Amino acid sequence: MTAVTSSFPVRRQDFEFDEVPRHWVANDPFMTHLFNALSALFPDGERFFVASVRAVREKIEDPQLQKDIGAFIGQEAMHAKEHGNFNAGAIKEGFDIPRLEGWTRKFLAVAELPFFKNDKVHLAATVALEHFTGILSAQLLKREDLVEQIDPSMRDLWAWHCIEENEHKAVAFDTFEKIYGKDVASYALRMGIMALATALIMVAIHAFVIELMREDKQLTNIKSWAKGLNSLWGRRGIFSAIVPEYLDYFKPSFHPWDHDTNLLLARWRKKTGMQS
Ligand SMILES: [Fe+2]
Ligand SMILES: [Fe+2]
Repeated sequence: MTAVTSSFPVRRQDFEFDEVPRHWVANDPFMTHLFNALSALFPDGERFFVASVRAVREKIEDPQLQKDIGAFIGQEAMHAKEHGNFNAGAIKEGFDIPRLEGWTRKFLAVAELPFFKNDKVHLAATVALEHFTGILSAQLLKREDLVEQIDPSMRDLWAWHCIEENEHKAVAFDTFEKIYGKDVASYALRMGIMALATALIMVAIHAFVIELMREDKQLTNIKSWAKGLNSLWGRRGIFSAIVPEYLDYFKPSFHPWDHDTNLLLARWRKKTGMQS
């Protein structure tokens, strides 16, 4: 009998952030702070994902899913560590990202309110936010023009993170369905939590960008705002482009691998020399 191995690897990383320029995306404040804002969400967000899956892990009997949960936890823990290191170092550029990590914890405190404080709701929140990170990171990998605008000192970190978000995008979803099934109540809960999570994540991202632009004394940089908002919500915007995939989540039959990113992953693993 062959031993079961996880469907994707955990890659140990230890990035250096000493050479990261002040505006490391497209030489532009808004675009840089958009990525900084995402980075401010990651450490605590990803620790929340890990905790929510770990809390129910013992209920999973499928050996393959057990292995994949282990690898999911390993990947997310490594993302939290690396983004935490980057965030801590950004202070020398004058941006206090660790303070925004504190804001992230305030957003996550919603999960501690009476109705939300249970394993099923926490896992549903993880499933929702994993869908969001999965489609957003796939979008970035599809947009090589955007990746090229990331300074080389940060490109590997983001390529690595985007690859792994796609590798493990179905783990929380499969765990949820294995434990709680596809009945109407579970489906309705997932939909409701997705609506709430979307509102919170959108408020958080935009609030973080505004705060970082303020710290950077760029609040009146109209050109950067206009270009940045167009890059997010314009015709070829990163967020506009993922709206159809986002909406697929609301279909009762939806599964994260309905969006097949295997070819995209193969291309990026080859390009970055990452093991598969
Ligand atoms: Fe992650
Ligand atoms: Fe993830």
